[in-house]
Amino acid sequence: MTQPEDLFKNLISHAKEYGFIFQSSEIYDGLSAVYDYGQNGALLKNNIRQYWWQSMVQLHENIVGIDAAIFMHPTTWKASGHVDAFSDPLIDNKDSKKRYRADVLIEEHVAKIEGKIEKEVEKAAKRFENFDEKMFRSTNARVLEYQKKIDDINARFKNALEKNDLAEVKQIIVDCEIVCPVSGSKNWTDVRQFNLMFSTQLGSVSEEASTIYLRPETAQGIFVNFLNVQKTGRMKIPFGIAQTGKAFRNEIVARQFIFRMREFEQMEMQFFIRPGTQKEWYDKWKETRLSWHKALGISEKKYRFHDHIKLAHYADAACDIEFEFPFGFKELEGIHSRSDFDLKQHEQFSGRKQQYFDPELNQSYIPYVIETSIGLDRMFLAIMASSLKEEKLEDGSERVVLSLPPQLAPIKAAIFPLVKKDGLPEIAEKIINDLKFDYNVTYDEKDTVGKRYRRQDAIGTPYCITVDHESLTDHCVTIRDRDTMKQERVAIDKLKSIIEQKVSLTSLLKKIA
Ligand code: GAP
Repeated sequence: MTQPEDLFKNLISHAKEYGFIFQSSEIYDGLSAVYDYGQNGALLKNNIRQYWWQSMVQLHENIVGIDAAIFMHPTTWKASGHVDAFSDPLIDNKDSKKRYRADVLIEEHVAKIEGKIEKEVEKAAKRFENFDEKMFRSTNARVLEYQKKIDDINARFKNALEKNDLAEVKQIIVDCEIVCPVSGSKNWTDVRQFNLMFSTQLGSVSEEASTIYLRPETAQGIFVNFLNVQKTGRMKIPFGIAQTGKAFRNEIVARQFIFRMREFEQMEMQFFIRPGTQKEWYDKWKETRLSWHKALGISEKKYRFHDHIKLAHYADAACDIEFEFPFGFKELEGIHSRSDFDLKQHEQFSGRKQQYFDPELNQSYIPYVIETSIGLDRMFLAIMASSLKEEKLEDGSERVVLSLPPQLAPIKAAIFPLVKKDGLPEIAEKIINDLKFDYNVTYDEKDTVGKRYRRQDAIGTPYCITVDHESLTDHCVTIRDRDTMKQERVAIDKLKSIIEQKVSLTSLLKKIA
């Protein structure tokens, strides 16, 4: 069986080989934690973005979309708390000179202890038949001991973060005897806070220039436009504003491919509500977002909710939808109950009222906000990782198939003339000219049909259509399904409706409407 680490390595090389993702500026040896999307990657990414956008803006009458600028007035980030509090606790190993996020070191240590519990449970399950009371007691004692360790570390860690006690964070690392993965030593520096925002200068003359930031989240572009949208769109609470766009963070521990990047894309929606209704809307958005993921047909076991131990400076409740990536369960999306923190801060820092007059209550207030925030690149990785498969076929051969949700596949159908002559390319061309207004389709006449199937399987094309000599007279073609590999003879004029059923985004949206 392929190990998860190998699966991940395969995924990275597959993404490159088939034009999904390239290292940025590769000819100059690349730029760390920055990636470019290739010809197939850009299409897949667009489709995921479109699925998200339509599910928010098209399916909800009370959600509208905007496209705010990346640069914002620097006071925005003072008001939002990012200048003072958007930082990671970092620690260096003095021997390897490697820098780590202290919280990640502790979380990974806890995950290792959790792994030990899982192993105990697995061992007990295997010995189920002759599991006597003595064995039960000793297993139970070990599990309780591990669990106590986890609870103690989590409690200390939560307390340390709440008090911003960096000395205690270091002490936890020392007490847990965490070693540097590179040097293997416990020779650590103190823990320091490091702000994650990138800054640059606005203005050409250095004396006049002022420092501005590349936005670390798209959310603030929504908050500062709250009243613009509410008034011009005559929006009534509850209502939402959605936006997709680039965000930038100077991540120190930037690894795991496109999971943690320095330049990435977010898809965020801020839902403005009456104060006091946040619990109800928080639960509702948790459910709505999980359904959005589940509609894609990826195994439900791959998703789970994780409540935050430490709440961000703006939140009164928060959880992640975690996904089982090849390197374990990790955050894919955040759902945050942000209270009235952001609008209140912007009211205070700008001196402009950020209030909504509620005609039903006949009163004005600063709305509360529920936020849903998902990284487009992480969603891309989740989809790629769950789709890439190596299959053994009945005839003993193997194939690599990217079983992407068909609605998101970069190319929906590939059209092949069986041979490059006898009028078959012309029929294939005609089919393409008919389908191309609705779908991304492609033409391939090189190599055997078997090889052409393999090429399309590798990029996740749901359908391959072969034009043969009989097509000249019966006006039919052979359509082959990527997943079942079944081939069927169908009339050329039925192709559009057959493809439509499987690949249309509408069918996906109907599942969640
Ligand atoms: N506005 C709230 C916010 O930005 P977050 O949990 O910091 O919350 C939201 O980020 C989502 O953005 C995450 O769940 C993740 O999918 C994505 N994300 C955050 N940092 C990222 C990074 N460095 N690279 C790729 N995606 C990232």
